[in-house]
Amino acid sequence: MAQDYVWYQGIPFPVVDYYPERIKAVHEELVLKDEDIITMTYPKSGTHWLIEILSLIHTKGDPNWVRSVPIYVRSPWIENESGYKCTVERKEGPPLITSHLPIQLFPKSFFTSKAKMIYVIRNPKDVLISGYYFRRLTNLAKKPESLEQYFEWFLQGYVPYGSWFDHVRGWMSMREKENVLVLSYEQMKKDTRSMVERICGFLGKALEPRELDLVLENSSFQAMKENKMTSFPDVPEWIVPAGFKITRKGITGDWKNHFTPAQTQAFEEKFREKMAGLPPELFSWN
Ligand code: A3P
Repeated sequence: MAQDYVWYQGIPFPVVDYYPERIKAVHEELVLKDEDIITMTYPKSGTHWLIEILSLIHTKGDPNWVRSVPIYVRSPWIENESGYKCTVERKEGPPLITSHLPIQLFPKSFFTSKAKMIYVIRNPKDVLISGYYFRRLTNLAKKPESLEQYFEWFLQGYVPYGSWFDHVRGWMSMREKENVLVLSYEQMKKDTRSMVERICGFLGKALEPRELDLVLENSSFQAMKENKMTSFPDVPEWIVPAGFKITRKGITGDWKNHFTPAQTQAFEEKFREKMAGLPPELFSWN
């Protein structure tokens, strides 16, 4: 039987480009720098969008960099092999890094550093739908046969990076820290300008109004759809088919077009059970 996932400490990872020894080394040995700016998300929560925004804040809205360098080179995923290499070999450019690691596997060095982390949280029902289409269309990790099957996998945490509920609960314990900013995909959709301003404030970067306009313009859904550097350029076609776009729908509430009433109920029960005790205002989609 083909291997379902790469497993490390009970967490499933995609099979392509992930190795338990590397994940262990990243966890135990990778030294983050105080200047590092970390995009941290559970997959399908708006990772690429945030990276595009951070890249454009760095260039003050100039789109040349985002249009010429793949997103995973601009802000590599530290836990996969190619992203790890890219991170440690990088000689120039802003210190952007990305990760989906759950808190218990994130580099230990982070917790005593001043590195800044932005965590994007998204309505998990939309995360589930976005993940379903992503897994169906790409071959990075185990493919579900149906939405019903993926729904069950998601609730069990049998999906890349494990349980959404555990990921969010784990990282939310850091939400009061000075070097951690929590944003939601829904807030970003509702008022992107204010969110970019918040990000700039958090990073201590000032943009002129015209530069801010350019950041917004060049990180819009449409601009990202047209920018092939945001959607797996240079990845072999057997892994990600040509023409695949990370920008699928880019809306909130798409789950309503997919969930049955029984699924909605089952999801909400699980949510209540797993997220009990966390402040409801964290879940700004409600
Ligand atoms: P959908 O599949 O619901 O459309 P990630 O980057 O974490 O993999 O998340 C991908 C999701 O973010 C996709 O959601 C994608 O459409 C959405 N997204 C990417 N860029 C976006 C943008 N500029 N504005 C809004 N949503 C965006």
